Amino acid sequence: MTDTRPVPETSDESARSDATWWRQAAVYQIYPRSFADANGDGIGDVRGITSRVPYLKKLGIDAVWLSPFYPSALADGGYDVDDYRNVDPRLGTLDDFDDMVDALHRAGIKLIVDIVPNHSSNRHEWFTQALAAPKGSPERDRYIFRDGLGDNGQLPPADWTSAFGGLAWEPVGDGQWYMHYFATEQPDFNWDNREVRDDFLATLRFWSDRGVDGFRVDVAHGLAKELPAVLPSQAELDAMEKTTGQHPLWDRDEVHEIYAEWRGVFNEYDPPRIAVAEAWVATPERRARYASAEGLGQAFNFDLLEADFDSAQFREIITSNLEQAKGAGSSTTWVFSNHDVVRHATRYGLPPLAGRAVKQGSEWLLAGGREPELDIAGGLRRARAATLMMLALPGSAYLYQGEELGLGEVADIPAENRQDPAFFRNPGVDIGRDGCRVPLPWTHEGSSFGFGSDGAHLPQPEWFGRFSVEAEDGDPGSTLELYRRALALRHELQTAEELEWLDVGGSADVLHFRRPNGWEVVTNFGTGPIALPAGERLISSRPLEGDTLPGETTVWLKN
Ligand code: NOJ
Ligand code: CA
Repeated sequence: MTDTRPVPETSDESARSDATWWRQAAVYQIYPRSFADANGDGIGDVRGITSRVPYLKKLGIDAVWLSPFYPSALADGGYDVDDYRNVDPRLGTLDDFDDMVDALHRAGIKLIVDIVPNHSSNRHEWFTQALAAPKGSPERDRYIFRDGLGDNGQLPPADWTSAFGGLAWEPVGDGQWYMHYFATEQPDFNWDNREVRDDFLATLRFWSDRGVDGFRVDVAHGLAKELPAVLPSQAELDAMEKTTGQHPLWDRDEVHEIYAEWRGVFNEYDPPRIAVAEAWVATPERRARYASAEGLGQAFNFDLLEADFDSAQFREIITSNLEQAKGAGSSTTWVFSNHDVVRHATRYGLPPLAGRAVKQGSEWLLAGGREPELDIAGGLRRARAATLMMLALPGSAYLYQGEELGLGEVADIPAENRQDPAFFRNPGVDIGRDGCRVPLPWTHEGSSFGFGSDGAHLPQPEWFGRFSVEAEDGDPGSTLELYRRALALRHELQTAEELEWLDVGGSADVLHFRRPNGWEVVTNFGTGPIALPAGERLISSRPLEGDTLPGETTVWLKN
């Protein structure tokens, strides 16, 4: 399907032609099925997003990153794509999509869409064709098929485990098996196949032509694969070096040939389309390759997300990531929460566990997710302090829907309501990611707290209303108003991508940095108050006490 309509006009011409808009953007991630439900079927949709553009504008973000909205059986929350160039009919139509792009652009907000190139869904037309075609056919060559072992191919070609648990190979009934690194419903593409490459170029153009400003690239480090005739075992795979670019599955050097082609497409547009890689790689140097200007341009760093609320960890992570991004000619990205991890207001409410915050949150959920292990007020206090610091760092800030409300993880989702394949494929080992994907509360009361008119596809707890947009709107102490004011100030203060550390009276619990224009940020990671450094006080994550900065608090100053 092609579409030749012109790119919608934006109200802000200067922003449109600014090729560097992404470098220090505040990007808000929308998980569409859980954001806003316009037609009352319990599933968030595209018109729901459009109806909330005024909310997004008031929040003060620069761009939206939209998680997959494509036709999908939802075996993995939409990361199992049936058709890359369409909208899930449950979420809307292409016309609805165009209206949403238009509304966002009129509000001065860019749109980044998720692209899922490592695997399609098993309902994708090509996979259906592959199953119907014989072994060795061009149809099968678009995916990764191998003969099974044993006399009749009845045994898997290898013992590899999928990311969600269980075997990563599935038999198709004729002695062959296909590889799926994720769920069974997510067959991996063969990126040596030219048709696969060309089809994704067509997809990038399809959405770019519709006015999309950029792409978040799912599993960007996994596309290029080189499987030897005799497959290694899982144990052998695990033992293989991941820093040489030669691992059979991950972060192979030639993956960048794919992204060089993509860059050619991005640069056909004005401003060039942008991309940010989800690349889980072994070293900062390997990550920098994805962020190069000849490739995707930017790459996620998840280091802060994996850290405890700890000054030493934060300082080291910030320093090294700024250096790496600079070396790559890129800007870095900061993330505390997304649709894959326990929300940071909850993580920070759990006891620190040396750099394993995410895992620790998952362990707490698995154990039933009950208090008293969870310090709700403390978690939110630390989350607000961490976020206010993050919003002042050079680079892009990625925010996940609901964190602006201080939402915590929903721990008590009954098994029968859970949706995540990680929960089903790994019983007792992985609780899954549904707890951060519960539909947003917009109103204090009412059906699904204003998410829609008739329920929500994941159950919302009773306490959600207290964290609703309605409850927080206009309350100066609310997390929503903290985000709004911080994002507005961030716009006013934004400056060159530099940061200088200042020493605050030698306290190891305090981080203090200055941006080139005198924008200063102090975070007190300790629990007791410290003397407030000099400067005009702009905003703080909790009220200041006279001339002191309370524990677990961030303040922005201007000097
Ligand atoms: C990363 C995505 O963020 C996650 O949600 C998804 O399950 C996997 N990639 C597979 O697409
Ligand atoms: Ca709906």
